[in-house]
Amino acid sequence: MGTILVGKSRPLRGEVGVDGSKNAVLPLLAATLLTEEVCEIADVPELNDVDVMCKLLRSFGAVVEEDKRAKSIKVIAKTLTANEAPCALVKQMRASILAMGPLLARTGRAKAPLPGGCAIGKRPIDLHLKGFRALGADIESMEDERSYGYVEAVAAKLAGGEIYLDTRSVGATENIVMAAALSEGNTIIENAAQEPEIVDLANFLNKMGAKIKGAGTDVIKIEGVKRLHGANHAVIPDRIEAATFMLAAAITKGDVTVTNMLSDHVKPVIAKLRECGVNVEDTERGTRVRVTGEFLSATNIKTLPYPGFPTDIQPQFMTFLSTVSGPSSVVETVFENRFMHVKELNRMNAGITVTEGRKAIIPGGRVLRGNQVKATDLRAGAALLLAGLAAERETEISDIYHIDRGYSNIVEKFSSLGANIKRSP
Ligand code: EPZ
Repeated sequence: MGTILVGKSRPLRGEVGVDGSKNAVLPLLAATLLTEEVCEIADVPELNDVDVMCKLLRSFGAVVEEDKRAKSIKVIAKTLTANEAPCALVKQMRASILAMGPLLARTGRAKAPLPGGCAIGKRPIDLHLKGFRALGADIESMEDERSYGYVEAVAAKLAGGEIYLDTRSVGATENIVMAAALSEGNTIIENAAQEPEIVDLANFLNKMGAKIKGAGTDVIKIEGVKRLHGANHAVIPDRIEAATFMLAAAITKGDVTVTNMLSDHVKPVIAKLRECGVNVEDTERGTRVRVTGEFLSATNIKTLPYPGFPTDIQPQFMTFLSTVSGPSSVVETVFENRFMHVKELNRMNAGITVTEGRKAIIPGGRVLRGNQVKATDLRAGAALLLAGLAAERETEISDIYHIDRGYSNIVEKFSSLGANIKRSP
């Protein structure tokens, strides 16, 4: 399985480019099931999760041609021979559930094992199912003999509907938009999630002939169409990878320009870095992040659905806050258990305390000490990697498969900036 070894690194310097967004490419690939014509997705990141999604599309009968060198994937879902997501794939990647909406709209039936929780929370799919019901589907959830939970949605033809999302769920918004795009009627989603990845999905679907308005706002209107045609689309840059590199520059007091990123997608992160005294500016080469002063000050963050501070940057930002002067607080409002990295950071002398479940107090001003630590989820793993860059002595991170799910060539990218980092077998 291997580990990643990280040593204290001098200030990172240079340029690094981000790849296509994991959280955009997964729904884009699911959406290719909505047409029998050819779709080509470009700027695809090389991630384990993308491989799992390709396997999932093939399991439904789609032809999927990956060109890793060209970073593109061609999908032809001409004939679908199955509409049940294999348990093994859903267990590997909960985003497999994003296939349900397209399968339901295209074939009238979609069945999947309940994805179940993960390190950061219960991760229910009740809002996905609420949306399918509003579009006219019958939903059945059952236990099979192995006592795995399954859910099945059936609808001879999807009609339009009105849905209010109790929580601004990214996945539920995406699943409902994909199902509603190929339905007979008009759909309105109220309290929709507004993430850039949803806008990217809507742009792709509209290229395919869908009629979607309001993506990126909290009200999305979809006029269903009878069929969708093939289209080509390039994935937006990964804003979470971009923010992770910005924090690497900050925590090592370096000078790094992150290229191929959209700074508009990380405004809260830029604002908070500036509050701490980090210099962030857009240049013609990209977004330049540098630390010029000796001391960086503390700040407080609270995660919220977009355009609020992204929960996917909360662990990495907490690592950074443990090294600045003065106490900070972090409140996590999106997931109920997204402080799994605190225990590991405290084994590196971060001294963080968690009060009433969702609030962490970071004393700051600590000298982190290297240790053997474990990645508990994707972004927690990234947070530990950042901690290793600043810590005295070496840090060894295990369970690095979490990191490889969401960051492609992360060791090479950090090495190119001068980080003291390597994989060990
Ligand atoms: C997406 O997950 C992202 N994953 C997550 O990124 C991200 O953290 C999350 O959105 C929030 O921004 C992908 O896009 C593949 P949600 P998703 O539905 O869609 C509750 C990463 O590290 N909820 O927006 O699963 C849920 O429990 C990953 O890249 C319901 O209650 O997240 C959570 O508390 C981690 N019922 C909140 O909504 C539902 O039916 C937000 O979840 C669905 C969700």
